Amino acid sequence: MDKFFIEGGTKLNGDVVIPTAKNALLPILACSIMCDGVVEIEKCTTYTDVEYMIKILEELGAECEIIDDTLIINSSLADKYAIPEEYTKRIRSSIFMLGPLVSRFGRAKVAYPGGCNIGARPIDLHIKGLESLGVKIVERHGYIYCNADNLSAGQVHLDFPSVGATENIMMAAVLAKGTTTIYNAAKEPEIEDLQNFINAMGGKVSGAGTSTIVIEGVSRLHSVKYKPISDRIIAGTYLISCAAAGGKVTLLDTNHSFNTALISKLRQSGCKIKLNNDKITIEVGCRLRSISKIETLPYPGFPTDLQSQMLTLQTLCRGNSMIIENLFETRFKIYTELKKMGADILVKDRMAIVSGVKRLFGASVTAPDLRSGAGLVIAGICAEGYTTINDVYHIDRGYLHIENDLNNLGARITRVKE
Ligand code: EPZ
Repeated sequence: MDKFFIEGGTKLNGDVVIPTAKNALLPILACSIMCDGVVEIEKCTTYTDVEYMIKILEELGAECEIIDDTLIINSSLADKYAIPEEYTKRIRSSIFMLGPLVSRFGRAKVAYPGGCNIGARPIDLHIKGLESLGVKIVERHGYIYCNADNLSAGQVHLDFPSVGATENIMMAAVLAKGTTTIYNAAKEPEIEDLQNFINAMGGKVSGAGTSTIVIEGVSRLHSVKYKPISDRIIAGTYLISCAAAGGKVTLLDTNHSFNTALISKLRQSGCKIKLNNDKITIEVGCRLRSISKIETLPYPGFPTDLQSQMLTLQTLCRGNSMIIENLFETRFKIYTELKKMGADILVKDRMAIVSGVKRLFGASVTAPDLRSGAGLVIAGICAEGYTTINDVYHIDRGYLHIENDLNNLGARITRVKE
């Protein structure tokens, strides 16, 4: 299991290119099984979660090949609709293979999904949504069995704007006869990207990015070449890294409209941020003010996937901050590790109270999950002395060699292979 060894105390300066979004790539790869031709995904960043999704597609019989940074998927030969537990247990996104499989094969047999240990991660909204489209579902012995002989368009109201459930239902409806409407849909940019991908293959989806999505069923989805959006969580992680360490960093190939909530908070705390087309430049020269309240909400609210990174920043600011995590029950696991580095944090249920300290001190810590692992990297860069981060495989799920990007900006991170 690889570790990071970080020498702290460096500022961050320079430019960094933001790669394609993990959470756009994953549903797009799942959806590609519905295409009766060849799908080419440009600038496909092979995070380990993406590598696992490619393995799932190959398990189903699709042929996948990466040439330069383009992923080529030929699903015409796919002939299986069962995904065993050894594949599904690693990633949450295996659950939204249900929609594409029932659309393509009329059947699905998928073991329960895995993913970051940040809460119960129920799938009831996925199940209820697919059942609203006539899919018969039985859950038995750790598997979800779907029979879509009666798949038809329908109206789905989501009790909560779940990202994955919205994507699953969208994909199940694309080839279903008639018009499907999803109410209280998630509005994340990755949902709009999936809509654009589906429409580029001949689908008829509209409304993504709003809470009502309309899908008109079509008979087939044809070949396409597509470039997904850039990763707003990686962009946000690097903005917070510079805010914590100080310096001047420009993000390239990004879209600042995806990060309005974060940018507003960082400006409140004293960061200078310039927006220019697909560039974001952040400059920080002094210790920042604490942000009194940060509350995670569905998009366009403050993203839960930046909560750990923001909590880390608050440990070094002047003042006190209250952070409320509304999306996931146990997404404060980072706080025990930050306390080892000298942070002053109190956590009770879904609330964290942070009193800023002048400095953190290097220590040996362990990444509990993907985004809190990224938060620990930020802490290590800012801490006095040396920090070891264990279990960095969590971080590799959603960052492709985070150490290279940050070292190019002036950090001193060594990956120790074990
Ligand atoms: C997606 O997960 C993202 N993952 C997560 O990113 C992200 O944190 C989350 O959306 C919220 O933005 C991918 O896109 C692969 P949800 P997902 O369904 O779809 C409840 C990362 O770090 N819920 O929107 O699993 C659930 O418990 C990952 O990149 C139900 O109750 O999130 C949670 O409280 C972590 N029943 C809330 O909805 C369901 O059937 C949001 O979950 C489904 C969800």
